[in-house]
Amino acid sequence: MSAGAAVAVVRRAAELRAAADAVRAQGGAVGLVPTMGYLHEGHQSLVARSAADNDLTVVSVFVNPLQFAEGEDYGAYPRDLDRDRRRCAEAGAGLVFAPPTEEMYPQAPVTTVAVQGLNAVLEGRFRPSHFDGVATVVAKLFAMLGPGRAYFGEKDYQQLAVVRRMAADLSLPVEVVGCPTRRESDGLAMSSRNVYLTADQRPAATVLWRSLQAGREAVEAGSRSADEVEAAMAEVLAAEPAASPDYAAVVDAATLERPDALAGALRLLVAARLGRARLIDNIGVDCDRL
Ligand code: PAJ
Repeated sequence: MSAGAAVAVVRRAAELRAAADAVRAQGGAVGLVPTMGYLHEGHQSLVARSAADNDLTVVSVFVNPLQFAEGEDYGAYPRDLDRDRRRCAEAGAGLVFAPPTEEMYPQAPVTTVAVQGLNAVLEGRFRPSHFDGVATVVAKLFAMLGPGRAYFGEKDYQQLAVVRRMAADLSLPVEVVGCPTRRESDGLAMSSRNVYLTADQRPAATVLWRSLQAGREAVEAGSRSADEVEAAMAEVLAAEPAASPDYAAVVDAATLERPDALAGALRLLVAARLGRARLIDNIGVDCDRL
């Protein structure tokens, strides 16, 4: 497939399954990159990783109503399937799965997936039904396609943890692969939601990255108290008038629990609202490797 061409789109789960079965019949491996579309280089890095690992890479493009609460940006979420198809071709995808809502949810689901505990902390405190919506749609995509591997960004670190735990608890035969966050040159994590930022808000949006750096520097300077590191992060967020912070947190990278004394692999996470955009970001810091 040449760059600039567009990847074929299927809209029905049966067509998706048939395409994957044809590849598997030849002994080929199938990778899945679940997305909500409006693809940027961050998404493309997942697609490229999958294309390197598998014979067929499927990118799903579906703005999942189940993971948006009333009053969130489901209606406004940016959509551009033609552009997504070209971006998928550039990155090496073989097929786009873009189901209409009634294909994913022919009836309102009464069976949902809840990854207890992980669904309630951090983002879960601000978006209580969000991760149940994510886990449910990802479980459905896994069931429809049956990928051997599925690729998720560390950009959504809690989501990656939720999906990993779901796959483990439900013995799903899929390898969940985490991929590093792609950033703009000033540190802002790429996100489909960055289009909500006005020209004035755009420079201020680096406050998430600056806050994470302040947290990392506090740990590197020897702080081993979660309170202290969170205060350093919160101070940077509070100093940016355009941002309304939701949280600045330090957690254990594996369990997402808040440690009293910092040790081992940590994850620093922040969330803030800037105008219409609610942005999240995170970085890893390993106390044992300083
Ligand atoms: P979406 O926000 O479109 O993201 C799709 C995938 O791209 C996720 O795994 C996300 O972590 C990854 N991603 C986003 N920005 C990235 C960046 N800057 N660098 C690297 N990876 C990045 O996350 C979702 O969609 C949905 O919740 C979904 C999993 C598709 C379920 O509906």
